[in-house]
Amino acid sequence: MTVHVVADSVAGLMGLRAMLDQHCAVTSELLSDADTRHSKPDAVVVTADLRAVDSIATLKEMFGRLSHVRTRIFITDHKARLFTVQAHALGATRVLVNPVNQASLLAALVDSPSRTIAIEALPGAREAATSGATALASMFSAVSSGKLIDVSDAKRAGRKIADSIAENGLSSWLETVRRHHESTYQHCLLVTGIAVDFGLCLGVPNADIERLYSAAIFHDIGKAKIPLAVLDKPGRLDDRERALIETHPAAGYDVLKENAGASPEILDAVRHHHEYLDGSGYPDALCAASISDIVRILTISDIFAALIEHRHYKPTMPREQAYEIIRSMEGKLERPLVAAFREVALNR
Ligand SMILES: [Fe+2]
Ligand SMILES: [Fe+2]
Repeated sequence: MTVHVVADSVAGLMGLRAMLDQHCAVTSELLSDADTRHSKPDAVVVTADLRAVDSIATLKEMFGRLSHVRTRIFITDHKARLFTVQAHALGATRVLVNPVNQASLLAALVDSPSRTIAIEALPGAREAATSGATALASMFSAVSSGKLIDVSDAKRAGRKIADSIAENGLSSWLETVRRHHESTYQHCLLVTGIAVDFGLCLGVPNADIERLYSAAIFHDIGKAKIPLAVLDKPGRLDDRERALIETHPAAGYDVLKENAGASPEILDAVRHHHEYLDGSGYPDALCAASISDIVRILTISDIFAALIEHRHYKPTMPREQAYEIIRSMEGKLERPLVAAFREVALNR
């Protein structure tokens, strides 16, 4: 049996080689140099940190090329279900959690089940994105045609998104949404996922996660009143178009304020998600003390989502660069929250 070993550190590589060298033919390489185009192993064993965005991208490519290999074992340091799901989504046939010893690794190599998994977004994330996009589409068309928005329908979709984030993680969500959805729906789905993940990262209670996804899914509903020619215009907006876009928070608030299903938090988020702590935002030029915690979280998620959106006319901005822009907005966003957001932006 030939086993190909890939690790994201020299120590990881050496550790695995030491366990396998006397029992099978072993080839190995570091994840950063992985080029498996010419290797034809019977099994592949990988150990890497699944929180690193770069590692995930490399592993996706690599497992895509190795989908014909029957046994693909992934070793992770973290017991969280999220990492197990992530590893399977990448194409692992078996996931082991450290500490892994020689006996357990050899046993896994002998009796690992084989299956071929397409390197694709997770079904749970796809389903949540579809129901979110459907809810957004019906909300936006209700506003356009002057009908009442079904708030509970949108909240149900938000709940599914929150469940998908908790189960599958943020990276899978970002990829699913950017691949399958466009424009304002893509943006609202991204903001909802990012806000939920930010809430989970901050450890906020469940009731606040519900407030967050409800606020996020509705936050840009006022854009239903903006012509698509302006909303989806490639490139820079002129002053008139910018002023028109800036009417959307108040327009959204007006649409929802008579709706019995819209809670005060939703109304607050819809109206104030473009306010900044230094009073330079719109529409009410609120200052720090008047901006709620939910809105502060939402605003950071909103800016980040807008920066990393996939648009056909421009390259997608890397998450690192988007975070640097947020970090540079000194005085406008809450500094401890921006520091906490680093984990969401770069690692989750
Ligand atoms: Fe907005
Ligand atoms: Fe937005």
